[in-house]
Order: sequence, then C-alpha cells, then structure tokens
Amino acid sequence: MEKNCAIEMKGITKRFGQVVANDSINLSINRGEILALLGENGSGKTTLMNMLSGIYQPDDGEIYKDGQLIYIRSPREAYEYGIGMIHQHYKLVEVFTSTQNIILGLNDGRMNINAAEAKVKEICDRYGFEIDPSEKVYDMSVSQKQTVEIVKVLYRGADILILDEPTAVLTPQETRKLFAVLQNMKADGKAIIIITHKLNEVMEVSDKVTVLRKGQLIGTVETKNTNPQALTDMMVGHAVSLNIDRPKYQSPKKKLIVENLTCIDDEGIKKLDSVSFTANTGEILGVAGISGSGQKELLEAITGLYPVKEGSIRFIAKDGSEVELVGKTPKKIRATGVGMAFVPEDRLGMGLVGSMGMTGNMLLRSWKKGKGALIHRKEPEALANKVLEELDVITPDVDYPVRRLSGGNVQKVLVGREIASEPEVLMTAYAVRGLDINTSYTIYNLLTEQKMKGVAVLYVGEDLDVLLELADRILVLCGGQVAGIVDARTATKEEIGLLMTQFNVKEDAE
Ligand SMILES: Nc1ncnc2c1ncn2[C@@H]1O[C@H](COP(=O)(O)OP(=O)(O)O)[C@@H](O)[C@H]1O
Ligand SMILES: [Mg+2]
Repeated sequence: MEKNCAIEMKGITKRFGQVVANDSINLSINRGEILALLGENGSGKTTLMNMLSGIYQPDDGEIYKDGQLIYIRSPREAYEYGIGMIHQHYKLVEVFTSTQNIILGLNDGRMNINAAEAKVKEICDRYGFEIDPSEKVYDMSVSQKQTVEIVKVLYRGADILILDEPTAVLTPQETRKLFAVLQNMKADGKAIIIITHKLNEVMEVSDKVTVLRKGQLIGTVETKNTNPQALTDMMVGHAVSLNIDRPKYQSPKKKLIVENLTCIDDEGIKKLDSVSFTANTGEILGVAGISGSGQKELLEAITGLYPVKEGSIRFIAKDGSEVELVGKTPKKIRATGVGMAFVPEDRLGMGLVGSMGMTGNMLLRSWKKGKGALIHRKEPEALANKVLEELDVITPDVDYPVRRLSGGNVQKVLVGREIASEPEVLMTAYAVRGLDINTSYTIYNLLTEQKMKGVAVLYVGEDLDVLLELADRILVLCGGQVAGIVDARTATKEEIGLLMTQFNVKEDAE
C-alpha cells in the first residue's frame, strides 16, 4: 500500500439492484500524478468516481484521504475534502457569465463580482485556460464550457480533480490544449483522475492506468510499462487484434452525386449549406465533424427523410441511368429500385421496433423488391436466424423483443438487416457508439466486406483514429458546409481537426 496517497479507495463495492457496478475495487492516486481510469462502456468507471464526488455512497469499502478515513456524503462534502468532479454533461446556466456560473451556489454569493472575476482570471493565467470571465455561457463553444466547469472546481479549492470522458466532445486541437493544462495542474501538485476509453489518450497523458472490466478491478499499471495492445487485452479480457484491414477496391464507379445540397430546419436555420460530393462504389466515405455539423441531416436528406431546399442527389443505377432522389419519399425511392440502406443514430426508434423480435423487425423492412406479395413469415424468420448466426447475436430466440437486448446486439440486428437488403449505398450514423471493442470490430469488418462487394458506404463517425483507419476518403463537415474532403490514407488527425472548426470564426479570432 502506498504511503501519502492523496486518495485511496479500498474494497469499494456498489450495487444497483442485481447489478454489481463495482466489486471490491482498490484505487489510489498521489499528488502530482495523472491516473487514467480505463474500461469499456458499463465497466463501472463513472459509478466509482461518483463515490469520490459524493453522489453515491459505497455499499462496502473505505475511502482514505491523506491516510485518514473519510465519509463523503454529498458533493458539498467532497468539495470540503478538496475533491471536485467534472461530469460528462455540463450544468451551466446559459444566460450567466462564466464567473457567475463559477460562484453559483457558493456562500459568498454576495461577494463582489469584480473580485470573483479577478480570481477566475488568476486561475486561468496560472494553468493556461482560455476563457473570458465576463463572457456569457451561451456564446461559448463546448470546449470553453468545459473549461468553465474545470475552473469552477478549481475555484472551490479542489486539489483532487476527476474528469469523466472530457475529450469526447473535443477536437484534437482542443484535446491537446486540455492535456497541456492537465500537465500544468499536475506540476502544481494536483491529483488528477481522467476517465476515458481512448487508448492513445491514456498513453499520452497519464502516469498510471487502472483498468476496470464488468465492475471488476483488472489491475493498475504504470503507463510507461504498458502499450495500447496490452491495455486492450486487459479491458476486453482476451487478445484482440487492433488493426482494421483496408483493402483497396479495383475500378470504383460513381454511385451517388450530391450537388449544392441545402437544407433548412423548422426555425429557418441552414443545416446543410451547398454540400457537394460524390460517393463511389467500393469505397468507405467517412464523414467527420463536431456533432451537430449536419451529419444527421445529410444522411436523412439522402434517404428522403429530411426536406431539401435546394440541390440534387443523383443515384447512378447499375445500368448507368440516373435517378434524382430529391423530392422523393423513402418509399418512392425504394419503389424506384434504388437500393439504399440506413443505420440511423437512433437505433430503437428510427431503426428497429423495440417491442418486436428479430423476425418482426426483418419483416418490417420491406427488403424484398417484389411488391404486393404478402411476405410469408418463413422468409424473415430465416433471415433473422441467418443474422443471429453470422453476427453472433445474443438473444433467447428470434422473437424476443429487441429492446431487451444489449446495445451491441441491437446494433448487430439492425446492421445485419440492412446489409441483408443487398444495398448499393449503405449509410451508417455512429455505428459503433456505445459498443464494446469486439462488436465494434465486427461492424468495421462487415462494412469493409460490403465495400469490397462494391457497395458505396457512408460512415458517419466520431472517432478520428477509426475514421483514418477504416475510410478511404473523409468528408469533413463544419457548420453544415463541406470543409474539405481528404484522402484517409495520408491525412492526419490535426488536419481533420482544423477542418472541423474551419468556419468557426469566433475561435479563429481568439
Ligand atoms: N443509477 C444506476 N442505476 C442502476 N444501474 C446503474 C446506475 N448507474 C450505473 N448503473 C449500472 O452500473 C454499471 C456501471 O455503469 P457506469 O459506472 O456508468 O459505467 P461506465 O462509466 O464505465 O460506462 C452498468 O451496468 C450500469 O448500467
Ligand atoms: Mg461513464
């Protein structure tokens, strides 16, 4: 057991009903140290840290601060112990300035705002944060809002900071800035715990790594003594290959030609602004961008689900004839013989019917081109069984309601069904979000298989490392516009990051 640990958690157990979210976990951190807490979705990371920040109390186990046994009964008490957590969802008041948000709820609420702003500025200068103490939050970028949350914690005197997946909402450039301030805080003697599931970040920023899997502590290792492959094996529990194959398809042809596509939402805001690109057969075209840059509208416009204001979307059939998709409903598009498949972000809602089983959901997608014919149950059932077997779906049977399946299995059912329609264009939005590493790789392989069959694949993704390995080209959206289209074999993360914020004038001005 280490001496002088800032924080030591011993044998911490937390149950939610039947679920053991944390099973007798030990974790410790010193001052002047950055600890990465690593694990797949649902492995218990947030729960464990919520017990340090006073949101939950452990069912069992002890927490020590500087060798003293402590009980943290509320977030306020956590602050009294110098522990502050930056959660995944920010709780800022948009109409307040950064400083007003920072002092909100403090007893010295009556204190002079100028004095508070001066203190905020001092914290910013000390660690290298870039926020304006008197700027209103609604004018801020996501990364600036995150900075406000961090400064808020520091303002309250925390010297043990916990950040829950802080880079999920940042561009590579913003991530680099965040890591630089973390290093400054570390040099200043703070203890920092960063929750993440991104291996590159663990390697880059941390001194040691604690790995959780399914609520169990797998181990703690020094970062300098490990590598991404070893960490993955710890996370997943067995060896996993981390390489995505990227074969090249011979003789690609144009499949989808999008020209000057403009879409406007109910409130008159331009969601897509004169977007032009071509998607080819035998190609995975990655789509990158900060979330909300028009990705959703783009896929929905192509499928006929989102109204188009201007522009054209032409589908090139196998015989070379062209079909204009703008102005057609999804049903009309399908009736025209355009083979398009769509795996939307909202899997249970837009994708599948949760109350139905696999068979029902196969039936639902009129995947057979023959119209009019009453589809017999036999066919979709056979398909459901095929998907179940080939994608290794874990379900009691093909009639079990899909909403009761785990996220990974729901996604397999959806992707399996869409692929079974033998599309010429396959579009996916955040296809691996929330999935474990194994299922993610199954999905990458399936998409690559489709590409090698000559399908034009559109892959909207959020993990730039994956986009760079999986896609052939990457289209970068920024504020509804095409900021650039790059060759994924030669582009860098930094290049894409710059394109992602290219039209963000405000940030450029800073
Ligand atoms: N408030 C809660 N009620 C019931 N179950 C929960 C609650 N919070 C977390 N869990 C469960 O505990 C497990 C660990 O969750 P969590 O700590 O959020 O994981 P992670 O942060 O690693 O993704 C999961 O199975 C999750 O469903
Ligand atoms: Mg979490």
